[in-house]
Amino acid sequence: MSTDTVPTPETNPEKNPARSSGELIRLEQVTKRFGDHTVLDHLDFSVDAGKHVTLIGPSGSGKTTILRLLMTLLKPDEGTITVDGERLFPAPEKQVREVRKKIGMVFQQFNLFPNMTVLRNITEAPVTVLGLSKDAAEERARELLELVGLTGHVDKHPAQLSGGQQQRVAIARAL
Ligand SMILES: Nc1ncnc2c1ncn2[C@@H]1O[C@H](COP(=O)(O)OP(=O)(O)OP(=O)(O)O)[C@@H](O)[C@H]1O
Ligand SMILES: [Mg+2]
Repeated sequence: MSTDTVPTPETNPEKNPARSSGELIRLEQVTKRFGDHTVLDHLDFSVDAGKHVTLIGPSGSGKTTILRLLMTLLKPDEGTITVDGERLFPAPEKQVREVRKKIGMVFQQFNLFPNMTVLRNITEAPVTVLGLSKDAAEERARELLELVGLTGHVDKHPAQLSGGQQQRVAIARAL
């Protein structure tokens, strides 16, 4: 049995320059209601660059709602959201699209495209949504796959990978 090694930012600094200081995410006085159910009530919350943060709370307490707000899948009823010093809410649509490019999400279900190779799973969105050339997208995808220790797996389909390997494809795609 062989094991794949996942380089951490520490072991691969030039490929993954972790930002080490400054505030990356700030929610101020964010309120989110669904009908008359107030899920987030004037929430203040911030995350510094380079920090790993875990949201813990009872089922239904609003953890996923916070992530959906950051993904711009939902809009707050009140308050402001700032990412990397730029306003995500409220903000004009064009600015939202720019800021949104900096945010990635790895779903609990990996939601990889089963009919596409590992490489294409990663290049599909940059090519079709961001308009990157296929060559540039593939070059970047190969770098990201190296970063997550999947160099030998680029031409496989998701069903040919272990759960952890699939998750690393999802992480590379989010990056
Ligand atoms: N689209 C929606 N419409 C109405 N109510 C919603 C909607 N999305 C979430 N809610 C409600 O908002 C509350 C917070 O949901 P959320 O998904 O953020 O919880 P959570 O903390 O992630 O819970 P879990 O730990 O179970 O995943 C829940 O009561 C949920 O029923
Ligand atoms: Mg949840």
